[in-house]
Amino acid sequence: MTDVIKEQTQEDAHSPSGRKEITAERYLSPVVLEQEWEHVWPRTWLYAGVASDVSEPGEYFVFNIGPESILVSHSDDGEIAAFYNACQHRGARIMVNERGWIKDFVCPYHGWTYGRDGGLTVIPDIDRFSQGIDCDAQSLVAVRTEIWAGLVWVCMDDNAPSFDEFVGPLKEQIEPYRMEEMVVAQDQTVQLECNWKAVFDNFGELYHVEHIHPQHALIFDCPTSRTRLWKNGHTSVYIDGFTVNTRLSIPDEPTEMMQRQMISLGMDPEEYRGRILDIRKDVQKTRREMGPVLGYDYDLLTDDELSDIFQHNIFPNMIITLQPDKALIMRSRPHHSDPSKCYWDKITLVMPPAKDAEVKADLQFMPKPKPIPHERPEREEFTQEDVIAGRKTMDITVDQDVHLIRDVQNGMRSRGFQKQTLNDDESRIQHYHDWYSWYLGQ
Ligand code: FES
Ligand SMILES: [Fe+2]
Repeated sequence: MTDVIKEQTQEDAHSPSGRKEITAERYLSPVVLEQEWEHVWPRTWLYAGVASDVSEPGEYFVFNIGPESILVSHSDDGEIAAFYNACQHRGARIMVNERGWIKDFVCPYHGWTYGRDGGLTVIPDIDRFSQGIDCDAQSLVAVRTEIWAGLVWVCMDDNAPSFDEFVGPLKEQIEPYRMEEMVVAQDQTVQLECNWKAVFDNFGELYHVEHIHPQHALIFDCPTSRTRLWKNGHTSVYIDGFTVNTRLSIPDEPTEMMQRQMISLGMDPEEYRGRILDIRKDVQKTRREMGPVLGYDYDLLTDDELSDIFQHNIFPNMIITLQPDKALIMRSRPHHSDPSKCYWDKITLVMPPAKDAEVKADLQFMPKPKPIPHERPEREEFTQEDVIAGRKTMDITVDQDVHLIRDVQNGMRSRGFQKQTLNDDESRIQHYHDWYSWYLGQ
């Protein structure tokens, strides 16, 4: 159904060879969970959080992943650095609050104190360490850090490739959206009853979309999506927006969802009766013209990027979905000991319009710039049951996935299921698992 472009051209010793079996064991076995701790998590670059949370000296956040906890801090000299969140005295976790501002990092157990740069500054009753103590050697242990696209990335392995090498050509795909200028509009985590890869796989194919997300047929054309497979296990998919599923019958007038989106751009849906396949190109034109009026700078975006969805799955566990003025960051984090549980994070970033944007009232359909939250919202954490019962929502599409994912994990537990059988439209899952196998030495 989809057009697959393979970008994995660079043959080297690190490229995985052959199509690997995706067994149920990968999702169920505590042994595999342990192997991932040794071979996958430490050796890759992981998205830790948004850089705007540490934009001032003293701001910090904690990135918890499985049994590990990493402290990201903005030091006095303006550097953003990351450290293992473990006191060098007897190992206590130093910061348990997720995010905040501090003068120093003070261990709650015996009061060892570390500066914002991780250096050990105070040891209560230091003379009682009669063996002598070297403060420099007892500083917090640093983790490699990189700031890119407004996000903080960390890598626990000093010998792993550089961030640039790891992320490769995805850089030029993502940078034109200027995510570093966006602000956090929503921050959510749902606890899921499935393996962390089961939910990540779910966002690696569009085969399920016609089955569980019928609303997408009214705004996107998934059957004509383009897929790219990159080195290091990353994948991308590009989906036409402001259109309909062209495999189904084409309606005469814009669908309700399209109408809502068109009105938000100042377009008159009435004009498109009988010619709704023209909408996408006209949206591109309208955005190009109206962007500067509304305070948005689209100079770096191509015409297709003005109407379509570009989704990038970055190995091993995060997804960036891009539209003009908006990015969704989703991430799967493993449970520390149970392979059948994980955390699914979703952060929405939005672009604030330029302050001097002047909205001219005489244009009939001119919308107002979208409202931007005054304060960074706190993270909401809830369970899969909260979503299923309708107490919480992560938006209709993600809710639909959340409804289903527990049953996928349960089905894989059956004696009657051994391994997956993928089709061509699930090539991104296969590609991801081929690289996953390579990391595990399989
Ligand atoms: S473990 Fe941190 S001060 Fe003792
Ligand atoms: Fe889905």
